[in-house]
Amino acid sequence: MSSLHLKRREFVQFLGASAVVAAGHRLMPNWLVTRADASEPTATPLLDNLDFKPAPISHSGDLTLCEGFEYEVLLKRGDVINPQGETYGDHNDYLAIVQRDATTGWLWSNHENVSMKFLLPGEMLDTFKYAETRLRNMGGTCVRIERKPGGPWRPVLPHAENFRVDGLSSRLKLTGPAAGTSWVFGAHEAIGSVGNCSGGITPWGTFCSGEENFKDTWGDPEMKDNPPRSIRHFRRPSEHYGYICEIDPDTQELFKHTSLGRMAHENVAFNLTRDGRLVAYTGDDRVEQCMYKFISHDRYDPAAGKANRRLLEHGTLYVANTKKGKWIPLDPEKNRRLRRHGFDAARVCVNTRTAAKLVGGTPLARPEDIEVHPVTGEVYVALTSWQASGIDKTKPDYFPDIAGALGRLRERDGDAGSLEFEFDILVRGAKETGLAWPDNIGFTDQNNLLVATDYTIKSKPDKNSSQEYFGNNYLVVVPTSGPKQNQVIRFAVTPKGAEFCSPTLSLDRQELWINVQHPGDDSPSLKELSSHFPEGGDAIPKSAMVAIKRKRTTN
Ligand code: FEO
Ligand code: CA
Ligand code: CA
Repeated sequence: MSSLHLKRREFVQFLGASAVVAAGHRLMPNWLVTRADASEPTATPLLDNLDFKPAPISHSGDLTLCEGFEYEVLLKRGDVINPQGETYGDHNDYLAIVQRDATTGWLWSNHENVSMKFLLPGEMLDTFKYAETRLRNMGGTCVRIERKPGGPWRPVLPHAENFRVDGLSSRLKLTGPAAGTSWVFGAHEAIGSVGNCSGGITPWGTFCSGEENFKDTWGDPEMKDNPPRSIRHFRRPSEHYGYICEIDPDTQELFKHTSLGRMAHENVAFNLTRDGRLVAYTGDDRVEQCMYKFISHDRYDPAAGKANRRLLEHGTLYVANTKKGKWIPLDPEKNRRLRRHGFDAARVCVNTRTAAKLVGGTPLARPEDIEVHPVTGEVYVALTSWQASGIDKTKPDYFPDIAGALGRLRERDGDAGSLEFEFDILVRGAKETGLAWPDNIGFTDQNNLLVATDYTIKSKPDKNSSQEYFGNNYLVVVPTSGPKQNQVIRFAVTPKGAEFCSPTLSLDRQELWINVQHPGDDSPSLKELSSHFPEGGDAIPKSAMVAIKRKRTTN
């Protein structure tokens, strides 16, 4: 039995011994929740045996599923979540579930961005109200989930323990080498979290959220990005954003872990090294940016529960050089070049991209989601696209295919602690393969990869665009082994204007929970809406979380 399996078993033993039975602390893909309750029904998990007819191409304003499936809306923008009247934010992206006991758990959902034309129709771009509404609708939402006897897991709304994290007023503690240093202007906490794209679940059962396009709110001096004029009513240092945040649903404590670097963090995927140290993989979703992994200094202690959080404060951040197949440490003590350019350990955490390029990190085609295969421990990466930017697109290292690719990174000897790896491309985005602009990925129990596409949707498709070939964005299943290995099988299609985010199997494996982000965003005006999802009729479209399930058959 490999060390990966052993560690996982140890972890399950830890769960069994603990009062905190969390379902998501897998040393496995972030969107696959571990079934902690042995009394679960044994029906075949959804999407395991691929017994469905692929979903058709659609340009419709509705959510389109394969024959025999239906969906139910779980949460939508504006839903009141607690007695204080806080509401579910906009643009839901990552979702994650942890189970606490046989009938209760927590659900987390990121709010990446806002559709201001639907939130505040007609409001001028530079008013205080505009800026405040924008910040309040980003961040994330944490809600209780419950299961009634014989029924499915469902969010509980409203509930006194449900809470919001937003871009306006939440306070998040900075941890790691940069906290309190001049690189963050002496701060020990940051106000607000923005651009919350995808995320992960820690091995101790808390949620992580990646601050991706923080530049669109606060700018970024490192990359010479200016903040938008609309946000001028609020002044915050850009260096307080762009981190992997941690949300403890039980205590409502919030953290930004600077040791994992500052960039357009898509998500984080955890694993353990063969000798038991914590590994966190993370991608930087920007053209010509890199892939990273953090390795903790100390070992993970299954008995220590949330005290393992300190592992994220001390360790080494590495950047991938995919040409040489090497992880290069961003460690000024060992690297004279970093020192010469004025880097200390704290600055590495804040100007991470500059440090990565100095040591030879390979620019990639927008590394988005990174997930660890539940059986093999191989690391799967969604390389969303290559956009022309003066790079020599003929060089194979640069994955010139404009429609993106699915990549795979295999650590030497299967040890996540190795500093050498092999990297290859499994499926390229192309008309022929049926894949385009892969963004969010996840695994089913039987190792089927789930991939959500994310390309631009316009009122009318451009000639030769992904939209013209494939219609609205969609979700596919890609088996990672067996006779259908690397085939791309369409399972669901978004309403027009939207993308799917975070395909996640429910705790009982009978539903696929997925976020539908920015439906109808291509609408020319409020009078010409391209979608009315999820409420139908003449309703303004709203981002929403749905549960996809098999239709009940009556004989
Ligand atoms: Fe928020 Fe990289 O997608
Ligand atoms: Ca994404
Ligand atoms: Ca996206």
